[in-house]
Amino acid sequence: MLRPRLLASRFAAVRPGTGRVLIVSNRLPLTVRVDDGAVAIVPSAGGLATGLRGVHERSGGLWIGWTGVPAETPWPTRQVIDRRLASIGALGVPLSAAEIAGFYERYANGVLWPVLHDRTDGPVPADADWELYRVVNERYADAVSRELRAGDVVWIHDYHLMLVPRLLRERHPDVRIGFFLHTPFPDLEALARVPQRAALLDGLLGADVVGVHTTAYATRFLDAVRSVLGRDVRGHGVADGTREVTVRACAMSIDVAAFEAQGADARVADHARSLRRDGEALLVGVDRLDYTKGIPERLAAFARLLRDAPEWRGRVRLLQIAAPSRAAVPAYRALRARVEAHVERINRRFGTASWTPVEYRYECVEGSALAALYRAADVMLVTPVRDGMNLVAKEFVATRTDGDGVLVLSRQAGAAAELRTALLVEPNDIAGLARAYAAALTMPSPERRVRMRRLRGAVRRHDVFQWAREFLLALGSGHVGLVGRTVG
Ligand code: ADP
Ligand code: F6P
Repeated sequence: MLRPRLLASRFAAVRPGTGRVLIVSNRLPLTVRVDDGAVAIVPSAGGLATGLRGVHERSGGLWIGWTGVPAETPWPTRQVIDRRLASIGALGVPLSAAEIAGFYERYANGVLWPVLHDRTDGPVPADADWELYRVVNERYADAVSRELRAGDVVWIHDYHLMLVPRLLRERHPDVRIGFFLHTPFPDLEALARVPQRAALLDGLLGADVVGVHTTAYATRFLDAVRSVLGRDVRGHGVADGTREVTVRACAMSIDVAAFEAQGADARVADHARSLRRDGEALLVGVDRLDYTKGIPERLAAFARLLRDAPEWRGRVRLLQIAAPSRAAVPAYRALRARVEAHVERINRRFGTASWTPVEYRYECVEGSALAALYRAADVMLVTPVRDGMNLVAKEFVATRTDGDGVLVLSRQAGAAAELRTALLVEPNDIAGLARAYAAALTMPSPERRVRMRRLRGAVRRHDVFQWAREFLLALGSGHVGLVGRTVG
């Protein structure tokens, strides 16, 4: 095997842009589930996976990540998984059951996830879980090192892998490395909950470019680098030895053309019609079942509407689709129970023999079925209490090629910075939310259409390929051309 120094000097001699884009994230675009020995390989829910899928397909590079099953899975099954991953240009990183529990469930999702969303009530990390986080980050860096070829750029994603940029930089001083954080960046008070914050921030500074969704997150990140690490920050640059790290706000988006095609498909329109009932308006929510998504608050506001405006009873239904997510993490199990109990209470209190106010489904929906939900909605409810971006909001807008439908959008979602003509709400203000539902349900058609036209303009201007191009350009890589043209 070549020593890292030698590898680095070989890389330096290669013309930029002649290699591949190596995407590195914990979640691959396909997730494997093994139930009673039967292997199901399904598209992953979650913004990172759904958004980056098209970029990866176009660039023809390699995606390195975890398969969703433990390394202890028997060999014949792992072989099926490996072959399937290879066929989409992906490579699995093995994680043992103990690592999944300590690294993914307890440290990344138990400790970091709430902090990144400004919560200060999460668990205190155990030393052993931090150790597993470190070990798994090393394994990712090893996997990337093994695959890295001359001319490749490395694009690392999300909070599971914050140490990987530095680990790679130590081995490959000349390789272009980007990092994108798909969550918000927290304030200093929340960040103080993580004893390892200095190591995590230093890990990120191994990258050449650190990307976040909004300028507000970039400002917070730079503040943290200044106050936690005492680093010299100039404008959007951070000095790291002789290098300068650029911090860049760049809002992630979706494959707009793909959602528009679904929106214009007659079969999707038929399916959408079948979801509706005569004389009944439809509110729709589609989320991973996550406490950041504001689902209990959304339900409470619906109950408030039915209580305070009884004329809506029997005339409106809330269809909530919740994708199973992180079910082994206690906070997520508790949320599931809470949401189910809440739905039951509302239906018991307000429902009649011929009308069920809330239809709740705990499932993943894909492709045209998802598009049909977006098309069927009179009002789309995207009301997270905190969200890095929220791609569901953009998917809904892109699918509405009919120019109709109302988006109720939380001001606490990164997407609110772009989608200004949505009905913007504060997700914790239950009375305000209920008023927004009523306003959306009664909005005159001309106003709905003007708002939707502006929303569609905003989404079309900046699709996921544009986002990837901007990031790769900031990275100074010549790989931009691999990502192709944008929709508009
Ligand atoms: P997050 O990344 O936190 O999950 P986003 O809204 O940015 O939030 O992205 C969610 C992605 O997951 C979207 O692409 C959406 O279509 C998908 N998704 C959400 N809920 C479901 C579901 N119930 N079934 C299938 N896909 C879903
Ligand atoms: O966008 C936030 C995010 O953590 C993504 O990284 C990920 O795709 C999504 O949520 C789903 O979470 P998980 O990978 O834990 O299933």
